[in-house]
Amino acid sequence: MVDVKAVVFKGPFEVSVEEVPDPRLEAPGDAVVRITTTNICGSDLHMYEGRTSVEEGKVLGHENMGIVEETGPGVTRIEPGDRVSVPFNIACGSCRNCVEGLTAFCLRTNPTEGVDGAAYGYANMGPYRGGQAEYLRVPHADFNLLELPAGTEHENDFTMLSDIFPTGWHGTELAGMRPGDTVAVFGAGPVGLLAAHSAVIRGAARVFVVDEEPDRLALAERIGAEPVDFSAADPVEQITDATHGAGADCGVEAVGYQAHDPTGREHPELVLDQLVRAVRTAGGIGVVGVYVPEDPEAATDGAEEGRIGFDYGTFFTKGQRMGTGQCPVKRYNARLRDLITAGRAEPSFLVSHELPLTEAPRGYRCFDHRDDGWTKVLLRPTALAA
Ligand SMILES: NC(=O)c1ccc[n+]([C@@H]2O[C@H](COP(=O)([O-])OP(=O)(O)OC[C@H]3O[C@@H](n4cnc5c(N)ncnc54)[C@H](O)[C@@H]3O)[C@@H](O)[C@H]2O)c1
Ligand SMILES: [Zn+2]
Ligand SMILES: [Zn+2]
Repeated sequence: MVDVKAVVFKGPFEVSVEEVPDPRLEAPGDAVVRITTTNICGSDLHMYEGRTSVEEGKVLGHENMGIVEETGPGVTRIEPGDRVSVPFNIACGSCRNCVEGLTAFCLRTNPTEGVDGAAYGYANMGPYRGGQAEYLRVPHADFNLLELPAGTEHENDFTMLSDIFPTGWHGTELAGMRPGDTVAVFGAGPVGLLAAHSAVIRGAARVFVVDEEPDRLALAERIGAEPVDFSAADPVEQITDATHGAGADCGVEAVGYQAHDPTGREHPELVLDQLVRAVRTAGGIGVVGVYVPEDPEAATDGAEEGRIGFDYGTFFTKGQRMGTGQCPVKRYNARLRDLITAGRAEPSFLVSHELPLTEAPRGYRCFDHRDDGWTKVLLRPTALAA
């Protein structure tokens, strides 16, 4: 058995690049993918900061793409040499939820009690290794893998297809966004920025993006959104004023349970409350920022057990709707790939750093600090070309 390099979780604020056993085909439907690009995600930071139950030794990485190296005897559609995007959801393709397109909630692939849906290299999402590594085992490869045009073109765009471009798009879908809408996106991290990019592509009249990081707000402006700095003034008042009191037609939550105020103090309900205020009566709210059922370091008592008290009374009175949950990547990724190929979407605008895998610890540290200019970090475990 040959050893390969991978990013391993060691404990809070510590990852290291170590040799791990080579991933192998374990079932007839498996493929092994040689990873050309794998991204660090805001979701990885919840684990990195010790805010999940992820075990020491887990290989991280759920935003993966590469070249198929090997396929099992049951794989017929995908072939060695294919360039592929790997959705972060690991789905069986034939359970009741998968058949209905709900691949984020596959009933079969995650043995964790009470959790439907599996993912690579993630807390509570099953025993699967991540792809911040030279190679990755992909179960149910024919169902899960998305084919990409051969070659190396659009690598930095296509690498957003495994998670955050579909997730940003899903946020606008959960919000019930329609052409001509005014959309309020909270969070200008990679997910929020791609929700804003999606809203623009889908014909939004106006898009507001709320954050406090100047570099991220500048990117929001670059893609045609209106930046709202929550450290300058109440973001809801800024949006209300800018819309002459009307508020937004719908909103996207792209922050998650570690939402904080301008002093840095966490309030897990803060952004939910702000969305309820910022979105008009009967408007929709799409929550793709992550909330968890257990958080040992929670800022409020109830939130330790996932109980997050937001302004449900006003939410109800305004007759709003809310959609939640992880994104079923397969629902969108082929179409988003085609938007990229056609030149109508360019999610690579947010890439700030492209590092060799060995520099992952620095990538995690700087991205976690939200150091100026660290918007999205790509890791390159192996050569791009076949
Ligand atoms: N649902 C899914 O399938 C899915 C997929 C990927 C990521 N996520 C989640 O989406 C969230 C965002 O991910 P990301 O990669 O963009 O992470 P990120 O941590 O880089 O971005 C979060 C942004 O929110 C900002 N923020 C913090 N408090 C805020 C507040 N009160 N108001 C407005 N902005 C605030 C931060 O400054 C930061 O820029 C995370 O919770 C992540 O786990 C969900
Ligand atoms: Zn991700
Ligand atoms: Zn399934």
